[in-house]
Amino acid sequence: MFAKKTIRDTDVKGRTVLVRADYNVPLEAVVAGEGAIGIADTGEAMRITSDFRIRAGLPTLQYLLEHEVGKIIIISHLGRPNDERDPKLSLAVVAEKLAELLPGTAVNFVDEATGPEVEAAVESLPEGGILLLENLRFSPEEKANSTDFARSIVDSTQAELFIQDGFAVTHRTHASTVAITEILPSCAGLLLEKEVHTLTQVTTNPERPFVVIIGGAKVADKQPLIEQFYDLADHILVGGKIAADGYQAKGAQIYVAEDFDTNEAGEKLDIGPISTMHMIEAIRDAKTILWNGTLGKVEDPAYATSSTIIAKAIGENHELTSIICGGDTSGFIEGLKSSDENLQYSLISTGGGAALQLLLGKSLPGIDHLEDKQN
Ligand code: 3PG
Repeated sequence: MFAKKTIRDTDVKGRTVLVRADYNVPLEAVVAGEGAIGIADTGEAMRITSDFRIRAGLPTLQYLLEHEVGKIIIISHLGRPNDERDPKLSLAVVAEKLAELLPGTAVNFVDEATGPEVEAAVESLPEGGILLLENLRFSPEEKANSTDFARSIVDSTQAELFIQDGFAVTHRTHASTVAITEILPSCAGLLLEKEVHTLTQVTTNPERPFVVIIGGAKVADKQPLIEQFYDLADHILVGGKIAADGYQAKGAQIYVAEDFDTNEAGEKLDIGPISTMHMIEAIRDAKTILWNGTLGKVEDPAYATSSTIIAKAIGENHELTSIICGGDTSGFIEGLKSSDENLQYSLISTGGGAALQLLLGKSLPGIDHLEDKQN
């Protein structure tokens, strides 16, 4: 099911490895000055509001540490910094969080991605230690998929093996996803393997009845997704903006929400009780559920009702294979899960655009360029 070489197929003992993570986590300002909306204008102190993506990558780091890896150098991007240094998008906060999540492991940070400072930081890193480099997107060469930039990272870190574990960024053709694989032997980490395996399984051989729930605000993405599952799913349930906009279903297996909760201006911001009950009925006997896109505007608790009811019905059924994907949906479910430990899901995907591409059967350059598993 997963054709690429993984860290399990590779000897990591004593080697310096370069791990590409996706630590593109949501942030908020610790102290917001007058007029600041969401970001600090009086200082650069930022706080991570969800560490989901950092925790999702821990199994790979733990595996490497248990298998006596030499040094672990981690690279990532954070946000969209416009190809230049932006202190509000420094990965320093992620290094602090990583140290908290991996007690007993040395976790260092260096505010460059290449050059003498990185060389010195690698030199002083103890064996079995982790060094996180600064946000790759502070350099325009990252998004340009520059081989020179990839080579400078490798030269500065002396890495011997590249491990791609940032599933959420594998739809991008960047220096840290593609060019780097031309320089170092490359394989997949455990998060990448799990995401691809589970999402591929559901698109090829789901246990039935198989129900797909589609919602969210990005309407243009959703119609192809509905079409993709047209022949494969037993039921497709449509909520979110695409339903509110009056999507016309073609096919008996597609149910489009029929009632809505509205605000004073008449905007349809959540599906209503009739549609929610219909969807609960449709998922009752399901063996596999794939959910992409929330059913209402969940960032406003007043319009999170249907998504909460459906999420609980899915998460409380521990017999189900349940796959949650899409950035907003995964974040919403993670939030619910953190206050209710009875809720369980087979996979809460870290990938937004990457998961969507995979579900649509499109190729992901950051995976295609990894080495194939040898039979
Ligand atoms: C994501 O959040 O989807 C990934 O980190 C990729 O980020 P990007 O859309 O800015 O490339």
